[in-house]
Amino acid sequence: MKIGVYPGSFDPFTIGHLDVLKNAAGLFDVVYVAVLNNSAKSPVFSVEERVEMLDRIIESEGLKNVRSGSFGGLLVDYAKQIGAQYLIRGLRAITDFEYEFQIDAVNRHLDPGIRTVYFMANPAHSFLSSSNVREIGEMGGSIEGLVPHCNYHYLRERLARQK
Ligand code: PNS
Repeated sequence: MKIGVYPGSFDPFTIGHLDVLKNAAGLFDVVYVAVLNNSAKSPVFSVEERVEMLDRIIESEGLKNVRSGSFGGLLVDYAKQIGAQYLIRGLRAITDFEYEFQIDAVNRHLDPGIRTVYFMANPAHSFLSSSNVREIGEMGGSIEGLVPHCNYHYLRERLARQK
């Protein structure tokens, strides 16, 4: 069985992330979409909130082979724990490539058996990032169409309160 893990901060999960997740769900038998639990990154949304948002997405998109989760240590250790042989990441631009190139080298050093599968972002989403969504939402702009619809109202209220 081919198992992949799609890790990230997902602070919050955007439609760009959703595009990657759907592509991965079509390729792997099971995909774990996993929130990084790292308070050093000072996320706006708690791990619990982010996992709840993921659960709503999985449910409303009918992603039957996708499971949500979170991890706090090394990604390769989490992958081993859930039996995943593949990591999944999205690429938007050349700047992402440089970052991903480094992460891949570190992960292969830690676990020579691990491989990462990359999905190019839909060009329509290439400008989109979680930090854009946070900034737009906190400043009262519309985030409609930038985040999965099932989380839109929740995120709109939550980010408006954040500023
Ligand atoms: O969405 P992000 O913040 O770009 O995701 C980064 C992530 C979660 C993939 C990366 O920070 C990570 O894997 N962190 C866990 C710690 C780890 O395994 N570090 C070694 C590889 S950099």
